[in-house]
Amino acid sequence: MFPATLLLIGVGSLGTVLLELLARQAWPGRIVAASRNAARGEARCNLARLGALAQGGAGGAGGAGGAGGAPRIEFEPLDLDDRDATAELVDRLEPNLILSTASRLTWWLPGLLPAPQATRLARAGFGPWLPLHLSLSMKLMAAVREAGYAGHTLTAPFPDVVNAVLAKRDLAPTCGIGNVAEVVPKVQAHAALRLGVDSREVRVTLVAHHALQPAVFGERAERPPYFLSIEHQGRDVTAQVDGDALLFAPYPLPPGPAIHFLTAASAIPLMRALCREGETRLHAPAPGGLPGGYPVLADRSGVRPAPIPGLGLEEAVEINERSHRYDGIEGIETDGTVVFREESAAVLGEELGYDCRRLSPSETEARAEELLARLGEYARRHGASIERENG
Ligand SMILES: NC(=O)c1ccc[n+]([C@@H]2O[C@H](COP(=O)([O-])OP(=O)(O)OC[C@H]3O[C@@H](n4cnc5c(N)ncnc54)[C@H](OP(=O)(O)O)[C@@H]3O)[C@@H](O)[C@H]2O)c1
Repeated sequence: MFPATLLLIGVGSLGTVLLELLARQAWPGRIVAASRNAARGEARCNLARLGALAQGGAGGAGGAGGAGGAPRIEFEPLDLDDRDATAELVDRLEPNLILSTASRLTWWLPGLLPAPQATRLARAGFGPWLPLHLSLSMKLMAAVREAGYAGHTLTAPFPDVVNAVLAKRDLAPTCGIGNVAEVVPKVQAHAALRLGVDSREVRVTLVAHHALQPAVFGERAERPPYFLSIEHQGRDVTAQVDGDALLFAPYPLPPGPAIHFLTAASAIPLMRALCREGETRLHAPAPGGLPGGYPVLADRSGVRPAPIPGLGLEEAVEINERSHRYDGIEGIETDGTVVFREESAAVLGEELGYDCRRLSPSETEARAEELLARLGEYARRHGASIERENG
């Protein structure tokens, strides 16, 4: 691996976990963290630096900044709403890789409302919140294009859908992180247990959308379509281990942002693969802006869907397109307009007074502002707040 500059945008819940993990062991170079709140961002960088040192240095030769010293972590103030400033920062830093976790609303925040309201809003599914996840990724990609940036960009906010919308506008990031890559280790662990082998010997091939996760981790009974095959030492063992049953076998995870340890862990091999010459086979959402998640091949040149024996790419894409509806999305039109399912949109209409059946990418910002304002007002009305702590 070559020494590489990582621009990590967003040092909130997920960004902080990534920073902490990368500082200790994985990143072969400089990490520049960036977000709007400089005091919070600087403090989180200081904490990651000291934690890495306290644990014994930055992971030896492989760690951020090199051999066993404090990892090389810097902070830059950045507001993605300022496109020129974003382009200038990218131009000045010349990062090899950008990873953005910046978002106007994280997935777990509506769950902090009082239980009756949280339950009612959950019926909408994830899709109708799209403007809040799409807004900053769209701004980032526009700035990155303006800067003529030639490196790779990974994004965390709802990539299975967000990046598919961006692809329709020729703004697709390299790929997303998390989601499908969080399900694969569960299958690997269960299959290895059933076979009585080391989980590293188990090779999983999974085509699955973000919408499959609640079924896999026991929060929802409804099962979107997916493709799964499991091999051990080159032999297909899917039927032998009852792959479908183990995919949905009870395996509760803690609610809320604690799962970000899994998201961040699943992103790190992808980030490292993008700094290497040789191809690594992994899983990731939205390679090149495809909808949903796939097995992928990654190396310095980028990320592409891996060939799947017995399943063409078109069929894999179709599985993920059919899965959108389980996230409350009817489909994505050729110009990137997203059509929400009537019953999902109706939930936000009834609860928040927010009426949006169709979202054109050009309306994203206005819709994000409106949705955030209405959610804030709804929270206040029910004695809660969606303001985040500053720690
Ligand atoms: N793909 C996956 O598997 C996966 C897993 C977990 C989370 N996610 C998604 O990842 C995103 C982040 O989640 P989270 O829990 O880390 O959210 P979070 O704690 O709210 O963090 C969001 C970050 O975005 C930054 N930000 C907001 N507006 C910005 C702007 N205009 N310019 C620059 N930075 C800005 C915030 O910092 P400042 O306020 O300082 O700017 C904050 O650091 C969410 O969309 C979440 O749903 C995806």
